[in-house]
Amino acid sequence: MPNERSEMRHIERNEAKRWSENMRSERSGAAKICPNERTSFKEVLASDFVIKEFAKYDAVHEQDIACHGFSHALNCVEIVEKVARLFELEDEMIDDVKIAALLHDIGVGDIGKLNHDVRSAEFARKHFRLSEEVIDAIRFHDQTGGDSIQKKLVSFADKLDVNKNRITKSGLNKIGHRQYSHIMDTEILIKDGLLVIVFKTDGKLNIQEMMDYPFTYMIFEATQNLASHFGIGYKLFVDEKEIKKVVDNKKIIHNEGTR
Ligand SMILES: [Fe+2]
Ligand SMILES: [Fe+2]
Repeated sequence: MPNERSEMRHIERNEAKRWSENMRSERSGAAKICPNERTSFKEVLASDFVIKEFAKYDAVHEQDIACHGFSHALNCVEIVEKVARLFELEDEMIDDVKIAALLHDIGVGDIGKLNHDVRSAEFARKHFRLSEEVIDAIRFHDQTGGDSIQKKLVSFADKLDVNKNRITKSGLNKIGHRQYSHIMDTEILIKDGLLVIVFKTDGKLNIQEMMDYPFTYMIFEATQNLASHFGIGYKLFVDEKEIKKVVDNKKIIHNEGTR
């Protein structure tokens, strides 16, 4: 059954589609499309190429331990927009990172995860007019040590989207990974000059098991890399329990991360 959030996203996509169709009919008159004009987030969201490609994912969803389909893509869009606004990035940059977040996993399709980052970047380049920074953010989203703000934001959103709605049935059987199914919501804010992330749970999350799971380390790495871009420290909490704190985070680390 569609929940309130997916319903809103459905409405958002339909609005984007109507907007795109209006734009096309306006342009078909006197106005010509500039060949160098960048594609906007609304245009990408309204694109039939995108929806058709995401639809393929249904075939492999149940084999996956975490969703890599449309709902995950939209969660990542929400996260990059939220964080980009917290750090007061410019509108065009925000639009760019939303596109990268939307398309970063589209290459999973019905093939699976192997080399999906390469296929996602190829898809983005083939169908839309995007900057190399956007294409690179898609291509390298699995790396938590990216050097551009676009890479840092997309990787951060990708790693931070861990919650009950993303973990699949097969994911619930995987030790470590299953703990993310207890996360109901994630709050991201800046408080006292630090980037603060709070995983809000159902009270059943086993913190030790989550901390022992390698992906949790990637969450920390992606947070470290993003916060260091702005020269601020960060804290992560599971409810009221602090699980990670780095106050002095002036150094920007470019280790190109782990896979
Ligand atoms: Fe991915
Ligand atoms: Fe992803």
